[in-house]
Amino acid sequence: MEMFRETVATGVMILTLLMLGTAVVSLFLQVPYVPTKKRVVRKMIEVANLKNNDVVYDLGCGDGRLLFEAEKTKKVNAKGYELAPIPYVLAQIKKFFNKSKTTIHMANFFSANLQDANIIFCYLGPDTMGQLYTKIKHECKKGTKIISNTFSIHGVEPSKVWAKNPKEKLPSIYLYEI
Ligand SMILES: C[S@@+](CC[C@H](N)C(=O)[O-])C[C@H]1O[C@@H](n2cnc3c(N)ncnc32)[C@H](O)[C@@H]1O
Repeated sequence: MEMFRETVATGVMILTLLMLGTAVVSLFLQVPYVPTKKRVVRKMIEVANLKNNDVVYDLGCGDGRLLFEAEKTKKVNAKGYELAPIPYVLAQIKKFFNKSKTTIHMANFFSANLQDANIIFCYLGPDTMGQLYTKIKHECKKGTKIISNTFSIHGVEPSKVWAKNPKEKLPSIYLYEI
């Protein structure tokens, strides 16, 4: 009985720490963890028009759902960056159960080297998108695609926009090409 109580207490403590960590990181990043809905994931994958051997990033990958779906669609090299503890742990659990080769880094994507990217998925805020675009333009090769859920990049002309579609419950999706 004593051992059971200790195990439960440890579990509760770990969960509390993960929740606290996620709240603090979200405040600091000003981008909360909001997972992309399944139908939107499917739409973003369709927009990406993936090819075998593409290098696919999700910057702020949450639980990795876009990357795991991309990996199911084509033989891609998928890479994610996530700083918040709860989505990061969820991504690692999903990676294990999907037997996935996706790499998930618990790190700030502003410190990532993105030069091998073909496709970059994002679901961030408008300010972060602006800062990220500067980095992507500086590092990535011509033809790299950015696919953004909901948020456009201020002052940058997208190659294509899928307007918000309330009937199909789809948000605006923006495609940019470097
Ligand atoms: C709106 S959620 C989207 C999650 C996932 N991309 C999806 O579509 O389901 C944005 C995520 O980006 C993460 N994030 C924001 N800024 C980050 C940064 N600089 N480095 C790593 N992760 C970041 C947040 O912790 C959050 O989980």
